[in-house]
Amino acid sequence: MARLFNRNFIVGVTGSIAAYKAAELTRSLIREGANVRVIMTEAACEFITPLTLQALSGHEVHTDLLDTEAEAAMGHIELARWADALLITPASADSIARLVQGRADDLLGACALATPAPVFVAPAMNQEMWAKQATQDNVQTLVSRGIAILGPSSGSQACGDVGAGRLLEPDDIVSAVIAHLCTGTLSGRHVVITAGPTREPICPVRYISNRSSGKMGYALAEACINAGAKTTLISGPVSCEPPSGVTVINVETTQEMFDASMATAATADIFIGAAAVVDFKPTTVSDRKIKRSGVEAMDLSLVPNPDIIASVAESKARPELVVGFAAETHHVQDYARKKLASKSLDFIFANDVSDHSIGFNSEHNAGVLIGRDSDIVLPMSSKRVLAESIIEELSKVLD
Ligand code: PMT
Repeated sequence: MARLFNRNFIVGVTGSIAAYKAAELTRSLIREGANVRVIMTEAACEFITPLTLQALSGHEVHTDLLDTEAEAAMGHIELARWADALLITPASADSIARLVQGRADDLLGACALATPAPVFVAPAMNQEMWAKQATQDNVQTLVSRGIAILGPSSGSQACGDVGAGRLLEPDDIVSAVIAHLCTGTLSGRHVVITAGPTREPICPVRYISNRSSGKMGYALAEACINAGAKTTLISGPVSCEPPSGVTVINVETTQEMFDASMATAATADIFIGAAAVVDFKPTTVSDRKIKRSGVEAMDLSLVPNPDIIASVAESKARPELVVGFAAETHHVQDYARKKLASKSLDFIFANDVSDHSIGFNSEHNAGVLIGRDSDIVLPMSSKRVLAESIIEELSKVLD
């Protein structure tokens, strides 16, 4: 099974004799289904050519912070946002020290600062350098900032020394990354998620709907699977590929989404409403195509649909956490807070859908996870990274 299917990885290669192992690592990530883009520091290019990693990753290797051509294709901020994970391997003693300082005078440093994605560091250096207090202090600082350190392993080194400081083998690095991403924090829990739009038919060929692509809801489902939860996805019509392991219930209308939600929420620990539900439906649905000819004007009479998430939140078998999404264009957080209260939710994620770089159909999203007594700002990132942050926060509350 491709355990990193469609995940976007930046592999950052720094100046170390172990840089050649980045080639095997890139292949391993791709074998696991990941999309890989490589950043090389100037020193890394002394040990292995960018051409090798370009051929293996299928993309031009990024080397310069101030390369106008590269910036036009995919600038460092765009690259940082594209990533679902940044994996610095091999990480030299110098590159670790630079990360600690927050240096942004090369592309790798700037991306490490700019990315909201999880950062993994696989050190490789001489055993004496690894053992030095300065390096150990630097590593501890990175750990305290939430950066995962993978390895190093022990053994004979290229310089002839024997000891700790060898880069982990590429397959072991990939396994460690998978173990980090698949946290298991929701194992034994059941999460039900609604995703995508609903459709309300007007006649056999026309319907009312909206621009939801389902990407946000599907990313949440993937994060739940990675966290070990039994995951049910109630999905409106979308073209997203469901993550493996998810039980998908396909629906079309709001009433169908309502019925599926009420039936499954009864056994759920968490219910998340990421769907863009159509609030009103036509009073009557024509069983024949409504003809254009001879019609000068047409009125459409609408009646309200049930409020799915409010009904789940008020049901007798209420899940422990009921989490809504608020798609707003103005006064985003104020309206979201009102929905949190009026729908009896535990959390609501407020996103500004007037910003076309996030929200509907975008690969990215950003917003504030509003609780009854907490606000957590989640900066712009891929929907996958954002979903992982939301699920991590919800897991903490369940604990
Ligand atoms: O699908 P994407 O293209 O990835 O876009 C993601 C998204 C913008 C759709 C998503 O991030 C989002 O904001 N989803 C909620 C959209 C919405 O309907 O918001 P709302 O403010 O109208 O509704 C508030 C909450 O009530 C939502 O959890 C909604 O699912 C729920 N609701 C609304 C109406 C209704 N009749 N029943 C409901 O359960």
